[in-house]
Amino acid sequence: MEERMLPGPNAEVWIQRDGANISPSYTRAYPFVMARGEGAYVWDVDGNRYLDFTSGIGVTNTGHCHPEVVEAIKAQVDRFLHMSGTDFYYPVQIELADTLNRIVPIGEPTLVFFTNSGAESVEAAIKLSRYATRRPHIIAFRNAFHGRTMGALSLTASKVVQRRGFAPLLPEVTHVDYGYCYRCPLHLTYPECRVACVSCIEEDLFRTQVPPEEVAAIFVEPVQGEGGYIVPPREWMQALRALCDRYGILLVADEVQTGFGRTGKMFAMEHFGVEPDIITVAKGIASGLPLGAMIARRRLMTWPPGSHASTFGGNPVACAAALATIRVLENGVVDNAARVGAYMLERLREMQARHPSMGDVRGLGLMIGVELVRDREQKTRAPEVRDWVIQRAFEKGLLLLGAGVNVVRFIPPLIITEAIADEGLAIFEEVLTEAEKAVLGLSLT
Ligand SMILES: Cc1ncc(COP(=O)(O)O)c(C=O)c1O
Repeated sequence: MEERMLPGPNAEVWIQRDGANISPSYTRAYPFVMARGEGAYVWDVDGNRYLDFTSGIGVTNTGHCHPEVVEAIKAQVDRFLHMSGTDFYYPVQIELADTLNRIVPIGEPTLVFFTNSGAESVEAAIKLSRYATRRPHIIAFRNAFHGRTMGALSLTASKVVQRRGFAPLLPEVTHVDYGYCYRCPLHLTYPECRVACVSCIEEDLFRTQVPPEEVAAIFVEPVQGEGGYIVPPREWMQALRALCDRYGILLVADEVQTGFGRTGKMFAMEHFGVEPDIITVAKGIASGLPLGAMIARRRLMTWPPGSHASTFGGNPVACAAALATIRVLENGVVDNAARVGAYMLERLREMQARHPSMGDVRGLGLMIGVELVRDREQKTRAPEVRDWVIQRAFEKGLLLLGAGVNVVRFIPPLIITEAIADEGLAIFEEVLTEAEKAVLGLSLT
């Protein structure tokens, strides 16, 4: 793909105005200023086209402006924009709740609480798990990302900048090791380890620091997202479920990033054969409109009217978008994510044989991470290679994002074909080759 001088003149003007008006706490990896989007492609304000392998951070799973979603939004806009589902009723919210209750991977009746974002869904889950169990303590994982509001932030442990200066956070939160086999914190090897990282919670934490009968919930991302696109073993999740069952602890699956087809199944927990007690969702649920939900077993939702609510949560336009999104996903898009995801993973594994900096290639469906290293033996992290790759890919027309310290994540819209996957992977390999040469001094022919 052709190279261009970026940012272009129009983008430059917008970026300056942004700097003069918008909080500096946002994290922009490169100067992409969007004008419009269609399917897997986006255009900037200077007319440059890019292939979007970020999906607006895991949101536009049906592609940018999917016609069925746009049509559903337009139809709802003509009817009404808002009435607050907290105080009144409207069919589109009830229909969506009904649909979510049908598709969540929980085998007993569930109920839905609507929110506007992932962090709000996590806040709702924190409150419900405490309310339902009357226990104070919460366990989360190292490298976890659950959002940046105070409760969610207390569970987040992926980057210190997210926490610095904001203490005190929620008390009664403990972080334990995730099933991160490529860099096992216990220096063991799966499967011989027999998921010792889970046994440690019981044998160490519960014996020395945290009484298990005081633990309300364990919050887990089925695939760790911001922390580095880490896929734990199936057995790890099953051991976690068994641990929760032994002590009456709730298992909360944070599917904000993994939900709605991203991993090749509607919800990532389906890969593990494990039912959570509570699921938090947002991002992909409404193809880009702000909406989230916390879905829990009905028997847990004992909180009374007034105990938790939100003016905008379950906005009718967002609910209409979500219903259309789920329809599109169920009509072949989730299956497409599984098929094209497997294809991309295979292509990347072939590429790994040619590129020594590709330390680990992992993923489920179209949630794929490549961990870049200085050398495969020592697994020394190479954030400078990762940052180079992301920057140069942008210049060559491919939008990528990082995760963790040294991971490139691939989260394209779930509607992509193998040909579109190849288009993105070709740019990735080209810039990776450049980075290996420029940053690591490797010369590959
Ligand atoms: C797993 C997970 N939970 C929660 C959140 C927070 O979502 P939001 O940014 O919508 O508050 C994110 C966002 O990246 C996430 O990946």
